Amino acid sequence: MSDIHQIPADLVIHGGKVVTPETVLEASIAVRDGRIVAVGAADAMPAARETFDASGLHVLPGAIDVHVHFRDPGYTHKEDFESGTASAAFGGVTTVFDMPNTIPTVADGPALKAKHAIASAKAHVDYGLYAVLGEDTIEKVPELVEAGIVGFKCYMGNTFGRIPSPSTGAMLEAFEVVAPTGKRISLHAETNSIMERRQQRLVESGRRDPLAHLASRPAVVAVEAVARAAILAEWTGARIHILHISSAAELRPLAEAKARGVDITGETCPHYLMLGEDDYARCRGVIRVNPPVREKENQEPLWAALLDGTIDMIATDHAPHTPEEKTRADIWSVDCGFPGVESQMPLMLSEVAAGRYSISDYVRWSAANPAKVWGLYPRKGVIQAGADADFAFVDLDRAWTLHDADLHSRSKISPWDGRAVTGLPLHTMVRGRFVVKDRVLVAETRGFGRSVHAIQEMPAPQPKHADQTLAAVIALRPEEAA
Ligand code: DOR
Ligand code: ZN
Repeated sequence: MSDIHQIPADLVIHGGKVVTPETVLEASIAVRDGRIVAVGAADAMPAARETFDASGLHVLPGAIDVHVHFRDPGYTHKEDFESGTASAAFGGVTTVFDMPNTIPTVADGPALKAKHAIASAKAHVDYGLYAVLGEDTIEKVPELVEAGIVGFKCYMGNTFGRIPSPSTGAMLEAFEVVAPTGKRISLHAETNSIMERRQQRLVESGRRDPLAHLASRPAVVAVEAVARAAILAEWTGARIHILHISSAAELRPLAEAKARGVDITGETCPHYLMLGEDDYARCRGVIRVNPPVREKENQEPLWAALLDGTIDMIATDHAPHTPEEKTRADIWSVDCGFPGVESQMPLMLSEVAAGRYSISDYVRWSAANPAKVWGLYPRKGVIQAGADADFAFVDLDRAWTLHDADLHSRSKISPWDGRAVTGLPLHTMVRGRFVVKDRVLVAETRGFGRSVHAIQEMPAPQPKHADQTLAAVIALRPEEAA
């Protein structure tokens, strides 16, 4: 008899439909010490201290949202690590990657350590932390990697927090320095000089209406940035990830770079797939986000890119602000972004119900691919023996309505208020522990979340043109050699 039968499991889940990227199977799942020890027929499971009946529910790998802003420290009136991770748990999300545009900006070892202390005390779900890669932080790369990051964030364009965008020269040097670490660089790919100039002209012309925001950032802003970042990644061998892909036009430089063998990946968000320019009149400033929600013609190409693999994953850019900050009359003074970590799964499952794609496609984009791209697979992102027991238990048939007032984020204002959805995450489990059960937060799981940097295993780095990096050419001193 094998080992798994001799040592009892902590928990066996019976009766659920287990979703993998390939198929859906009726199976039981045994969990011990936070990890899955067996998936299979009920009578093949080890003895268990506890059982859980998941009849009628689909068991999905918990979603991995690689793009959230939990605002802690610095803007905790908008969100903090506790409210943000509670909101994630209610959305079936078991791992989040938090962005560095907090106060202080996560740009050196001490700031990163301070955020680790906050997150480990408050998080209900697992997390990774990003650090900024900017004009003046290149020399901090070693200490940031040492202090435990999941990846770097590079702001090619200005957005909330106004972190200055690096010059192309600084980006090249930064990519040269990050490439040998193997870490991935996530890009806010909007070219600052184009949109700053357009915004200035629009402000001068007197435009203050919500659609002026879209007019200030046409898709070329993103296309130019994606193409430029891909060239720098190709040259240096740095790994990159394109955040919040918003337009059909970005898909060409992304697909071309993939075809050339560049290690480049991409995400899109529900608002680019499901909202369009027609929604500005209804939502006004609430819809203001960077990059902007665009013309409806972009939606079908973005869906097609998810299905054909050009876009690798779904993320949310969860960007909470207060109602006052979102409803100012002048569009230029409205804060950008809105909460999304809790609504992503129901919105995307609604398209499963509508027949656009399968539930297996969905878990590929929400869990398996993010885990693969970020070096967490097969520890996370999949339901199989050896993986962490991170699950979303979902009623796929439940029709309900999203209401901002019901969000667990501190920010209760979004463009999704009143939207009908089908598919409800009923319980959420992180490493074998219920964090949400029957739509109630398990308060004691505050501080249970852990940083995933310790389990991250990126493939071996593949730096290129190492003999031509700034560091290499500065080290060359022909006059001394002569
Ligand atoms: O709209 C946005 N809001 N886009 C970003 O890139 C940043 C985010 C925020 O932090 O509020
Ligand atoms: Zn963001």
